[in-house]
Amino acid sequence: MTTTAEPLLLTRHDDRVVATLNRPDKRNAIDQAMIDALHALCAELEQTPKTLILTGADGVFAAGADIAQLRERRAADALRGINAHAFVRLAELPMPVIAAIDGYALGGGAELAYAADIRIATPALAIGNPETGLGIIAAAGASWRLKEIVGDAHAIELLLTGRTVKAEEALRLGLVSSLHEPTDLLTAAHAIADRIARNDPTATMATKRVFRAPRAQHPAVDLEEQAALFESPEKFRRMTAFLERRDR
Ligand code: COA
Repeated sequence: MTTTAEPLLLTRHDDRVVATLNRPDKRNAIDQAMIDALHALCAELEQTPKTLILTGADGVFAAGADIAQLRERRAADALRGINAHAFVRLAELPMPVIAAIDGYALGGGAELAYAADIRIATPALAIGNPETGLGIIAAAGASWRLKEIVGDAHAIELLLTGRTVKAEEALRLGLVSSLHEPTDLLTAAHAIADRIARNDPTATMATKRVFRAPRAQHPAVDLEEQAALFESPEKFRRMTAFLERRDR
């Protein structure tokens, strides 16, 4: 059972988990307890791979890392990469991660969204990295993930200005792939998860691994993954089903 005091509310389905960041009174600011809960969820999804839909409670994704905790952290804490390592682990989950973002996704909240494979949002989206305004850098993934998503020119402008990007611009930049009214946001995320669920999960996981492989590993990594899939019973089953279908 879940209670409202839990930092991460989990709804488990056969083929997916919906995780809701849940500190609404603090605009879902990401504190240590939420990071611990994300690690526990990652451990579960590493063991039993499922698509993850990540969202936030009460019309906010996450208004950043918890500034009250950040203010007390010192150099040694920075070097531990508390948020950075959690977001890397999340990004490397075997099955896809879909961020369904309503409202604010700022600082660490934006970086958490950047760690997802797919981002969708509502017209209320306000996403950005105001870290330099707080005297720090965006060290939990923005400095490298944001440019992979929107390209160097946009990424450096956003990181240097710290400005907030609204929904239409985020869509134009490719920072999110679609916009939905708040009441439709989770339905849209589930529709993406449904579409993914129709595919072979082994091939889905291979696609994610190959996509994330460093440039120097291509095409060897593609061919190794494909070699394994070419021998899989599911490939023969799916291709035979296509070739033998009667309803053409
Ligand atoms: N860390 C810690 N607490 C936060 C927080 C954060 N990142 N963002 C919001 N909160 C807290 C506020 O301190 C406030 O707590 P209180 O009620 O105990 O005073 C509560 O959440 C509500 O925030 P408030 O600012 O009153 O809400 P708002 O709707 O008027 O504004 C924001 C929302 C997101 C614009 C504003 O909270 C904000 O600017 N947050 C910080 C954003 C930021 O700099 N993030 C980067 C951090 S790396």
